[in-house]
Amino acid sequence: MGQEKFDLWQDHSLRYLEMAFRTDRREIIERPNGYGKRTGECGDTVEMFLTVRGDRIASVSFDTDGCMSTNACANTVAEFAEGKSLEKAWEITSEDVIKYLETLPPENIHCAELAVGAFYLALANYKDLKRNPYKIYGSFHRRK
Ligand code: FES
Repeated sequence: MGQEKFDLWQDHSLRYLEMAFRTDRREIIERPNGYGKRTGECGDTVEMFLTVRGDRIASVSFDTDGCMSTNACANTVAEFAEGKSLEKAWEITSEDVIKYLETLPPENIHCAELAVGAFYLALANYKDLKRNPYKIYGSFHRRK
């Protein structure tokens, strides 16, 4: 008996499909309050852009040249982070993302780690800019 072929539409969870195909957060913010960029071993890159109001994350947008699962993972990180305090946002883990999506393929676990890693870098960047406001101008140079 051969293995059943995985059907993208039938076999993925609704959450996975929603996060994988959601496009409204795919946006490059020119002067974000926090910016993180990470490239994984697969060679794909995720960039995260934070907009912070007070001590809360108002919105998260991202850009990636990665796979559909990376889009799902980055959207999930954004979904978790928006409205959270900066302190609480550090508690978001790749395990949370994997659990939420329900059907992230095992070969794409690293995509969750990549998205969360870029997010942590954006949080760290926010902290750094807050401590060193003189870095704000000229701190964000998006590299192609
Ligand atoms: Fe490279 Fe998903 S980010 S395979």
